[in-house]
Amino acid sequence: MTSSTLSVRPSSARPVPGTVRRAAFAGAAAALLAATTLHAGEAPKKPLTFGASPQVARGQYLVGIMGCDDCHTPMKMGAKGPEPDFARRLSGHPQAVKVTKPAPIDAKAWIWAGNATNTAFAGPWGISYAPNLTSDATGIGAWTEANFVKAIKEGKHLGVGRPIAPPMPWPAYRHATEDDLKAVFAYLKSVPPVKNQAPEYEPPAMARK
Ligand code: HEC
Repeated sequence: MTSSTLSVRPSSARPVPGTVRRAAFAGAAAALLAATTLHAGEAPKKPLTFGASPQVARGQYLVGIMGCDDCHTPMKMGAKGPEPDFARRLSGHPQAVKVTKPAPIDAKAWIWAGNATNTAFAGPWGISYAPNLTSDATGIGAWTEANFVKAIKEGKHLGVGRPIAPPMPWPAYRHATEDDLKAVFAYLKSVPPVKNQAPEYEPPAMARK
C-alpha cells in the first residue's frame, strides 16, 4: 500500500525535496486512515462453514438474517442480559426445562409470553415449544427436504399435519423462494447434532389446566 501511495506524485511540479517527503507522508497517512476507517466500518465477515457448498453457505446466510436463532437457540443469562447459548445452537426448547403453567395473560394488555430460554411461548394458541432444528434424530435428522419446504409453505407440521402455531413466522417465510428454503434445509442438516426432544405443543385447553 505504502509504495503505491508514494509513487503517485504530480509529475509536473518540481518541489523542494522536503516538501515532497511531507506531501508523500501526508498522502500515506491519509491512505492509511482511509483504509482503517473503511475496515472499522465494515460488517465483520463471519467465516462460513469450512468447505461448505454454495447451497449450504447460502443457507447459513439465510438462517442468520431470518433470525431462526432467536427462538430455536435457547437463551442463557449473560453479563448484558439474555444471550443465545451457542453450545446448544438451534436445539430448541431444552427438554429439562419444564414450563408447567403459562404466564398469566391479560388479553387487554399482554397477549403472549416467552419463557426464560425464549423457546416456549404461551398465548391464545396454548403453549408452543420451538423444536430442535439440528441434524440429530430428535431434530430434523429424519426429515426430507420436501417435508421442510412444505411445512414452511403450508404452515403445517411436516407439511401435512396440524397447523404450526405462533410465533413461528411461517406466514412470512412462506414467501421465500423454494431454492432459498432448500438452502436453509441444507444448512440445518449441516448443523452439529444436539440430542434434545422439545416437548409437544399444548393446545389451549391443556395449557390452562
Ligand atoms: C419468533 C420465534 C420463531 C422464529 C424466529 C423461528 N421459529 Fe421456527 N418455530 C417456532 C415455534 C414456537 C415452533 C413450534 C410451533 C408448533 O409447535 O406449532 C416452530 C416450529 C418450527 C418448525 C417445525 C415445523 C413442523 O413441521 O412442525 C420448523 C421446521 C421451524 N420452526 C424452522 C424455523 C426456521 C428454519 C426458522 C428461521 C428461518 C425459524 N423456525 C424461526 C418459533 C420460531
